[in-house]
Amino acid sequence: MPQSAKPVTVNFGYLVPICLVAALGGLLFGYDTGVISGAIEPLTVRFALGAAMKGWVSGCVLIGCALGVLVVGGVADRFGRRLPLLLSAALFLLSAAGTALAGGVGVFILFRFLGGVGIGIASMATPIYIAEITPARVRGRLVAVNQIAIVIGIAATSFVNYWIAGRGDQAWLIEHGWRWMFATGVAPAVLFALLLLRIPESPRWLIEMGRGAEAKGILTKVGGAGFCETEAAEIEAAITRDKEGKVSLLSPRLRRPLLLGLALAVLQQVTGINVFMYFGATIFRSLSTSTGVDAGLLQQVIINGSCVVFTLVAIASVDRWGRRPLMLLGAAGMGLSLLAMGLMAQLGADPASAGAWMLAFILAYIAAFGLSVGPVIWVILVEIFPTTVRGRALGLATFFLWTSDYLVTQTFPMMDANDSWFVQRFHHAFPFYAYAGFCAVLIGVVWKFLPETKGRTLEEIERDWGVGDAAAQAPLPRTAP
Ligand code: BGC
Repeated sequence: MPQSAKPVTVNFGYLVPICLVAALGGLLFGYDTGVISGAIEPLTVRFALGAAMKGWVSGCVLIGCALGVLVVGGVADRFGRRLPLLLSAALFLLSAAGTALAGGVGVFILFRFLGGVGIGIASMATPIYIAEITPARVRGRLVAVNQIAIVIGIAATSFVNYWIAGRGDQAWLIEHGWRWMFATGVAPAVLFALLLLRIPESPRWLIEMGRGAEAKGILTKVGGAGFCETEAAEIEAAITRDKEGKVSLLSPRLRRPLLLGLALAVLQQVTGINVFMYFGATIFRSLSTSTGVDAGLLQQVIINGSCVVFTLVAIASVDRWGRRPLMLLGAAGMGLSLLAMGLMAQLGADPASAGAWMLAFILAYIAAFGLSVGPVIWVILVEIFPTTVRGRALGLATFFLWTSDYLVTQTFPMMDANDSWFVQRFHHAFPFYAYAGFCAVLIGVVWKFLPETKGRTLEEIERDWGVGDAAAQAPLPRTAP
């Protein structure tokens, strides 16, 4: 009987603190992503940045992310899942201190780039680690905790930046304030590194390395002796199958999960989330002339707050409803909200009410993302690859994710500039239409290619692809057993 069909008594007292420590990686991922938004204006004045340099100061972090994930996959497969997490903590620390103390823009960019490498590593190592240590029944929920941590990290920066900005005048902010914004990242990075020393290695990786006794000790603590026995046997069988079937990143049998993973990673970004995370206030202002009050901060708080709330809904439902329904519902909601934003931007609306409508549509979009595409794509990405190549495969998928993020972030201001061809023809609607189009593609990909992985062990999912097992070519189930 597959493990997924047996009841497992999960020891949450042991498992949850471990997952929370790992999720600090997500928190720092969010923190380092968000911190630049409050610092960019004083930095621009302090280092007299031109438009291109300003873009590079913000964007270099994403290039670091993309490179980080390319390197870390091999490290995770060879040296374990904990070492990359420690590496990311060290890079977060280095980056926070280095950017805070930078005397020139070159040094600043170097340390920001290193922070990006840290974000890239954490974005991949944290979900892999959590997925590999949790039983199937609660895996979706605990991996999605990482997403909450990311959003809380982003939200925390808006509060911290706001608080720091209030400590002095403009001159102080330009000379010193922005340095404190980066320096506040030191404390969580140190905490992360210290706590990481107390969590165990991934039992799946330990078994692969022939350290079965250590792995069994951990599995017993997670779900009891019965769970340990079946889980360890399944992992061993899957690893033997992978080795006999010589599974490598280029194996023909890996082609389907790999293409699916890459497509989902790209689609998570080209459906536009980070345009709202990075440029939310700009979008709002370009369509509204309603109030004289600068609502930027309040809006950011509302947007981040609603993202947290809907990610909580996803956590509660991902292991109950399954991945497919959440993804289909969420992608449809995002697409419709984007379409509404596009139509409003193109056809025009009463400027007095445009801001409120825009905020409502953005919130609907954020809610749909928080419920589905945000957390669930990370859950799926760690589930669909076999253990022996999980690090490298996820590394490649995350590389595509960060590169797409970079392209979207780079192209949005170009499409949204008042003198651009897009604005002259579509007002400010074109990017929304484009992202809505990608939502339709996402629905198609999920509908046609995504198997339901709810409640299945990582080894059962692997077997379903027929990876490493010539006999197992069964079609993938659309719904969980
Ligand atoms: C995405 C990030 C995004 C974050 C925002 C994550 O799932 O990968 O690109 O910034 O969600 O909530």
